[in-house]
Amino acid sequence: MKSAKAIACSNIALIKYWGKRDPILNLPQNSSLSLTLDGMTTTTTVRWETDLPEDSVSLNGNLLTGSELAKMSGFLDLVRRQADMSLKAQVVSENNFPTAAGLASSASGFAALSLAASHAAGLNLDSRELSILARQGSGSASRSIFGGFAEWRKGDRPDGLDSYAEQLMPPEAWPEIRMLVVVLEPRPKPISSRAGMTQTLETSPMYPAWLSTLEADLTAAKKALFAHDLETLGTVAEANALKMHATMITTLPTILYWQPTTVALMHRVWELRRDGLPAWFTIDAGPNVKVLTDAAHASRLAEALGNVEGVESVLICSAGPGATLC
Ligand code: PMV
Repeated sequence: MKSAKAIACSNIALIKYWGKRDPILNLPQNSSLSLTLDGMTTTTTVRWETDLPEDSVSLNGNLLTGSELAKMSGFLDLVRRQADMSLKAQVVSENNFPTAAGLASSASGFAALSLAASHAAGLNLDSRELSILARQGSGSASRSIFGGFAEWRKGDRPDGLDSYAEQLMPPEAWPEIRMLVVVLEPRPKPISSRAGMTQTLETSPMYPAWLSTLEADLTAAKKALFAHDLETLGTVAEANALKMHATMITTLPTILYWQPTTVALMHRVWELRRDGLPAWFTIDAGPNVKVLTDAAHASRLAEALGNVEGVESVLICSAGPGATLC
């Protein structure tokens, strides 16, 4: 029996990935940039067992079945193929935050699984190889291999070997950065990001416009990041998230992940900003809102946003570490 345990943090994109050029290999239409979040973690143990007839995967204490289990087995096949073995795996995975609610549980989940499964299989993958493996479980997971700020370069090759994330800046390089995770709906989202992306690519007339602005957004965000210019970084990130949602809203049928409280939070962030607080929001494939700010203002902002009707909780996260073995 070979086993390993790994922990990985979730990450939130400041420049978003939305749309695949290859849905099997999870190759993206555009590059993206993210912040790995301290304290929002998945911990995963993988045991490759000799006497197991099928893979067994438990997520937050529930055994997966049907298509969910098939998806995980498909991912474990990638590790089996690389390690040239046929053993089945017992996987036990726990998130310390809500699953599939636009809080990037798939990012931390597949990053932790990639590390634990490959290590237990005797593969000694470097961080680039791990990023490529994690990407095939969930695109955003390619970025959770790294701590701090990471860029997932889209790559051009059809085999995806040049589509991986790299660290732009370690967590300790910007210790004052904070992201508030404002949770209003901890339940899973009604439409997965995979399905949402496909529908957007097929039907949104705004999609080409979104893609045409991505490189400029990425360049501006990286410049702001390296200059520790929070205002420019926040401004670019907020506009980028709104553009992504504009492509979703203009699909047929429409995809609107926002709830009334999501919109109330957007207004509240703008109001607080007018009052002089550094705060910029970003929103993923779900109704929850994340707010970029700094350490000096995080508690005050968390209190103000926590008072918006419909908000269940607010977490304050700093830049977190990359995936590691425990
Ligand atoms: O990789 P997925 O399937 O978790 O998709 C992520 C999509 C967004 O969260 C909306 C954007 C991103 O870059 O993380």
